[in-house]
Amino acid sequence: MELVLCTRNPGKVAELAALLPASYRVLGPEEVGVSGELPETGDTLEANAVQKARWVHHRCGLPCIADDTGLEVDALDGAPGVHSARYAGADRDAQANMHKLLQALEGRTDRSARFRTVIALVADGGERLFHGAVEGCILTAPRGTGGFGYDPVFAPAGEARSFAEMTAAEKNRISHRARATAALLEHLRGATAG
Ligand code: IMP
Repeated sequence: MELVLCTRNPGKVAELAALLPASYRVLGPEEVGVSGELPETGDTLEANAVQKARWVHHRCGLPCIADDTGLEVDALDGAPGVHSARYAGADRDAQANMHKLLQALEGRTDRSARFRTVIALVADGGERLFHGAVEGCILTAPRGTGGFGYDPVFAPAGEARSFAEMTAAEKNRISHRARATAALLEHLRGATAG
């Protein structure tokens, strides 16, 4: 089955490609002739995921999936949440985002947080949403060089290491994205069997 991955984020492409079985042929928007910036103007992760997948599906007609992810920090009332990508400015700079987050949490003892991923599937058969989350905490300084985005400052619950200190396979076993992808796969397997 062909699935178009509606993202230009190389970190997401690598993780989703590793999480999907080889029986799925994963294509990027360019490979199906769709170029340009994917729209992402919603107020929620759900709205953004559907918007990106719909936009590409309308242009290529193939089944499309899009991931929208947010980091929700309890001491910041859920911020940066849906605004995670542009938390420190329009250029989506990961270092600047982490720096702003660590400053906002300076001196705070409650550092609990979660990553939440919503994956939208938009195909001729309709639209579906799949959710995944992982609880954890925000470290006091970035650690590790793996992963992408906020991974150096996030340690999943029960782990001393940040996501960026884990191998890709270790992160993929427990991550928000892995959980949302598992729900997507369960649906796709059911749809194929039915
Ligand atoms: P978006 O889903 O592309 O809008 O990403 C939201 C923000 O969260 C961006 O700054 C991403 O770099 C970051 N992000 C998304 N997924 C992950 C992840 O798995 N780990 C760390 N940061 C992430």
